[in-house]
Amino acid sequence: MTTNKFPRIDPEKCTGCGLCVPVCPDHTLVIRAEKAQVGGKRCMGCGHCVAACPQKALTLPRRCGLDFETISPGKKWLPPGAIDPGEFIRFLASRRSCRNYRKKKVAAPLLRDLVRGAITAPSGTNSQKWGFHLIPDRGGVERLGETVAGFYRRINKMAANPLLRLADRVFGHGTLENYYRRHAATVAEALAAWDTGDRDLLFHGAPALVIITSLPGASCPAEDAILAGSHLMLTAHAIGLSTCMIGFAVEAMKRQHGIAAGIGIKEEEKIHAVITVGYGKETYSRTCERKPPALRIIGV
Ligand SMILES: Cc1cc2nc3c(=O)[nH]c(=O)nc-3n(C[C@H](O)[C@H](O)[C@H](O)COP(=O)(O)O)c2cc1C
Repeated sequence: MTTNKFPRIDPEKCTGCGLCVPVCPDHTLVIRAEKAQVGGKRCMGCGHCVAACPQKALTLPRRCGLDFETISPGKKWLPPGAIDPGEFIRFLASRRSCRNYRKKKVAAPLLRDLVRGAITAPSGTNSQKWGFHLIPDRGGVERLGETVAGFYRRINKMAANPLLRLADRVFGHGTLENYYRRHAATVAEALAAWDTGDRDLLFHGAPALVIITSLPGASCPAEDAILAGSHLMLTAHAIGLSTCMIGFAVEAMKRQHGIAAGIGIKEEEKIHAVITVGYGKETYSRTCERKPPALRIIGV
């Protein structure tokens, strides 16, 4: 069976070792006449078979590989426990949201490598239906900031109107009242600072942005995009860049599609993450602690 989705198997290279068979979640591969063959009807294209084959006999169609431009991760699999866990956790805990960027521009190959890091994330049914929109210069970040500021100017004006808040409480979900109580004052301060050019409290002076969307057909659109965002932020930390997720921008772009349309994002793409990228001004001496998690062990 050969369709666009299934792995291609090079019979010259395949030794029939069978290592690809048990790793396939769709039970698609079989060994016949001492060679691996596609015997099943389904393939989610996860690549387990490709990764398992010591002979490099399997390939998946339409894959771009992970050829980074600025780093050389190599392709050798690191099994569980292969890297120092203490060092790894310290790496995770050392990523900090950056709210004070230097003006230095982020080179385009670095931004593209962040996206390559992001797509190592898992995705529901391996659909990989995510979109990455890069804004590589401060001018572009400021233009987006201005449209997001325009959205919050309108929302703050509406929220300041007690009649509108009452109507939303009675006929809507009370979102406006909630926004008024929780955010309106800080947003007003941020808008004033934006308007005078004193401080960018939305994108924190970042020289670049990544917007992560989901494309039609994603089975778990939000989860996939947020996981990709998390991998992107950790990749950034590894390559010397700082990041911050900007929920305020996501909210504005979700509620007013014109903002995304203005930068060429199609209507069928859903916005899930806006992440600032740049070189942070801050340095830290140590990792910080977290609140104790709500943790339950079931069945003990
Ligand atoms: C979904 C999400 C939305 C966020 N939105 C904003 C935001 O709009 N502005 C901001 O400065 N930080 C934002 N943050 C950053 C959080 O405030 C930050 O992750 C948190 O304080 C923990 O700090 P750390 O990331 O340095 O560990 C957001 C984080 C997440 C996960």
